[in-house]
Amino acid sequence: MDTIKVNNYDEMSKKCAEKVFEKISSSNRVVLGLPTGGTPEKMYDYLAEMLNENGADLSNVYTVNLDEYVGLSGEHIASYRNYMNTVFFDKVTIPKENTNVPNGLAEDLKKEASAYDQLIEDLGGIDLMVMGIGRNGHIAFNEPGTSFTEGTHVTDLTEDTIEANSRYFDAYEDVPKQALTMGLHTMMKSEAIILLASGEGKKDAVEKMINGEVTEELPASILQKHENVTVIADEDAL
Ligand code: GLP
Repeated sequence: MDTIKVNNYDEMSKKCAEKVFEKISSSNRVVLGLPTGGTPEKMYDYLAEMLNENGADLSNVYTVNLDEYVGLSGEHIASYRNYMNTVFFDKVTIPKENTNVPNGLAEDLKKEASAYDQLIEDLGGIDLMVMGIGRNGHIAFNEPGTSFTEGTHVTDLTEDTIEANSRYFDAYEDVPKQALTMGLHTMMKSEAIILLASGEGKKDAVEKMINGEVTEELPASILQKHENVTVIADEDAL
């Protein structure tokens, strides 16, 4: 694991945007794994700015998002599809049909999950995946205790995650209790991974991810087993 220590959130965002921009610019075709949450918001701002200023051709850029809440339509303000459209996709020239977010309203969620893994395979796998980290060490929505061998699946969210994400909803009760998430096995197949962390709230999880035991109790610790992971974190998170 390489670690890049930056001074603050803004630097973390810029550094990551530069890396994603470089990847897009140097590839004829690229498949990106993309996260949601508060952490990558400014990275998307910088990236959109870089892409637009350079008139980047995004017709061969494909994206697969990490996760989506079960029971929310893509139009729901707190859905991850809506987040992605608002924060990034609508600001750049990427064809919408190139962008993928799991369908949290699918009637058969198991089928949706395996279709999502198939889609990633059909795209040729993920070249570069960006992700954040939860306070309890979750990545995407792989909560502590998730098997390292899982593909995309439906998961129950922990109280801690529901509480942390309730800021995006009117009320705590409105936060979905389940999500569809890319599994750790699927994520580990990405060619390269960038993990972003900012703020003191992530310090404990980041420390365990980098230096702790590799254990399903701290899902992000699996990244120690990946050959191409770059952690970009600010002082507070390290
Ligand atoms: C959610 C997302 C994760 C994200 C995490 C941290 O649970 N499913 O992908 O990494 O929150 O979010 P934040 O960046 O807002 O702290």
